Amino acid sequence: MAKIPPRPVGRPHRIEVMTAEGLELIARDELRGLGPSARPDRDGPPGVIGVDYAGELRALLGLRTVQTVYLVRAFPVPRPKALLGDEYFRAVLASIDKVRRLHPPGAFASLFLSAAGAESTVLTRLKAEIAAATGLRVGTDDGDLLLRLRRAADGVGWELLVRLSPRPLATRPWRVCNREGALNGAVASAMARLTAPAPDDRFLNIGCGSASLLIERLLIGPARRAFGCDIDPAALECARTNIAAADLTARCELHPWDATRLPLHSASVDAICADLPFGHLVGSHAENLSLYPTLLSEAARVARPGAHCVLLSHEVRLMERLIAERPEWGLHSALRIDLGGLHPRIFVLERR
Ligand SMILES: C[S@@+](CC[C@H](N)C(=O)[O-])C[C@H]1O[C@@H](n2cnc3c(N)ncnc32)[C@H](O)[C@@H]1O
Repeated sequence: MAKIPPRPVGRPHRIEVMTAEGLELIARDELRGLGPSARPDRDGPPGVIGVDYAGELRALLGLRTVQTVYLVRAFPVPRPKALLGDEYFRAVLASIDKVRRLHPPGAFASLFLSAAGAESTVLTRLKAEIAAATGLRVGTDDGDLLLRLRRAADGVGWELLVRLSPRPLATRPWRVCNREGALNGAVASAMARLTAPAPDDRFLNIGCGSASLLIERLLIGPARRAFGCDIDPAALECARTNIAAADLTARCELHPWDATRLPLHSASVDAICADLPFGHLVGSHAENLSLYPTLLSEAARVARPGAHCVLLSHEVRLMERLIAERPEWGLHSALRIDLGGLHPRIFVLERR
């Protein structure tokens, strides 16, 4: 049986990053922002980015546009049973230990192994031995320490993936108030990046709901002003709670404004973001037929020339028609993303 060679000093870790499908380019861009120590693969399956990474693992915990990050360890073994052998088992524990050391003691209480045949005798024993060696209990699929075991892509050997955080990175600590239709934190961060954020931005989040976009914009960097508006008082209350949890109260201005009649001067906003009512959980298609045209015209009025407007909607045909009818908006791109089985688009517009 081949032996695991010791990791040469300075050899990069193999990392796997999961994104919402459709956001790979934005996540690659964020990874490149980590500097030359991060070398994302050019290609990969949808929603998956392999990375050779020579930097501090801890820095990966700060990624904001990705859902989950895994540390990958390859084992040149024909069957998972070999992982129970002394040398390989020590390598399994070393990977787990590397991840646990990134977090305060007690951050991980349970473990979960995801694998084909996870309930087989061999994998049940592997879980039990990892539990005994780490002091973690074998838990359910929301276990803190998430391990995945799979055959290597080239068919030779097996790979163990250890999730780098007790929860997916897209689970935000600021989300203390949730609402039906609230936007995934990583998608919100990606949308905020698409507005080309700058420190002197006057940023407007239309229909802010629980404030996902507003918060994620300010977590990227400062803005001169950051407005959130919603016609629903309960949404504004929820937004207020989350903004306080993110410690951003002093930097956000929340208003009960109707997006179709904004009390803002013309050309007074530098960037606009909105997760529009899709007509599924929030609003209806009939309402959208009258809301969207007025909202797009009003957004064009308040946007200064060159301003980016980034809108998420499942009303693809309606949006395409309305954008084509409005010469004031130029369409940069329309990204089709996977949002829990729905496939809305992120429309990136620029005010002409
Ligand atoms: C899909 S939700 C936004 C969810 C939000 N991104 C979040 O993460 O919680 C759409 C929001 O638009 C608001 N809305 C609908 N019509 C509006 C209007 N005319 N003016 C302002 N807000 C509006 C709704 O109250 C709702 O909160």
